[in-house]
Amino acid sequence: MSPSQPLTVGIIGTGGMGTRHAVNLRRLVGGVQVAGLYDADAGRLHQAAALCGGVTLYDDPQRLVQDPGIQAVVIASPDDTHVEYVLECLRLGKPVLCEKPLATSVADAERVISAEISSGKRLISLGFMRRFDPQHAAVYQAARSGQIGRPLLYKGVHRNASIPYDVSGEVILTNSAGHDIDAARWLLGQQVQEVYVRGVRSRAAFSENTRDLLLIQLALSGGCLAAIEVFVAAQYGYEVSAELVGEQGSAATLQPDFALLRRAGQRSHPIPGEWLERFQQAYVAELCAWVTSLQAGERFPGASAWDGYLALLITAACIRSLRSGLPEAVGQPDTPAFYT
Ligand SMILES: NC(=O)c1ccc[n+]([C@@H]2O[C@H](COP(=O)([O-])OP(=O)(O)OC[C@H]3O[C@@H](n4cnc5c(N)ncnc54)[C@H](O)[C@@H]3O)[C@@H](O)[C@H]2O)c1
Repeated sequence: MSPSQPLTVGIIGTGGMGTRHAVNLRRLVGGVQVAGLYDADAGRLHQAAALCGGVTLYDDPQRLVQDPGIQAVVIASPDDTHVEYVLECLRLGKPVLCEKPLATSVADAERVISAEISSGKRLISLGFMRRFDPQHAAVYQAARSGQIGRPLLYKGVHRNASIPYDVSGEVILTNSAGHDIDAARWLLGQQVQEVYVRGVRSRAAFSENTRDLLLIQLALSGGCLAAIEVFVAAQYGYEVSAELVGEQGSAATLQPDFALLRRAGQRSHPIPGEWLERFQQAYVAELCAWVTSLQAGERFPGASAWDGYLALLITAACIRSLRSGLPEAVGQPDTPAFYT
């Protein structure tokens, strides 16, 4: 890849997230060209193409990955399709930014890890974009600079306004809570050793086994703890917050800077409706860092495939805990030298 030439990127999956990545790459990231798109739904593909202009449309995702005119790939298709596309990128030695989760099972994530190690190159970047959110980054910096002393506790809140269907606790853990698990690991700088998860059904209209509000407790190395609320039917809006409590203080994310409105005897400010609004700065920063790292031949500063694998290992223990009602240990695999 030459810094003087734009990096040509193909995007697989042009729904909400893939279209946002396409538009951000085209309008807000330098040194890159959105060159190819694929979606299983022709209507969604053409909607995204209309926003990109001058882009090749593929009717087969493998052909997009295999096209020599595509230098790097973004995967934003449904969770259970990620592994197939990531493995094809690895086979061809193409860098890939894969939306979370890396896979939907630990076994599949292990296949991806083996394939990446065999390829001999760190080709996979994972879309845990909170690592690029300015508010989360400020908490990270406050902790790393020693301002709050040794971090002891991560407190996370993750609320979605609503879910389109009755969703099991297992799906919420795999699809949504991975972000929170990664944030706890990253901000505390420790490894998760044990988990304890309880869930409730917030309303009778949901099916019997729905657990849309989860309380996740983590015990980490270094004597650290984490307590995370994931509530996907909170009704009022989308909200994510994080606080690190340390020996000498605490650091917490502030909400994005909306105007504070004083009116009719009340002070108020808006709450984002969903993640695309709340995390737009993070998505752009993540893409900029990815493109810059590829152009410079440097390592991506965000999450790796190993982070994605660990998130799934922890998620699997959370699912066991939700089923058993008991704390569950998390395996502690040695980090391969490839990922240190
Ligand atoms: N990082 C984040 O903040 C974040 C936020 C939302 C979603 N995501 C992840 O991004 C991915 C996409 O989520 P979304 O919200 O855009 O979903 P979406 O349903 O809006 O879009 C998914 C798209 O994939 C297409 N598709 C279906 N099967 C496909 C296949 N086999 N191959 C290629 N495309 C296929 C669909 O037609 C659809 O257009 C998911 O993995 C999700 O977990 C990440």
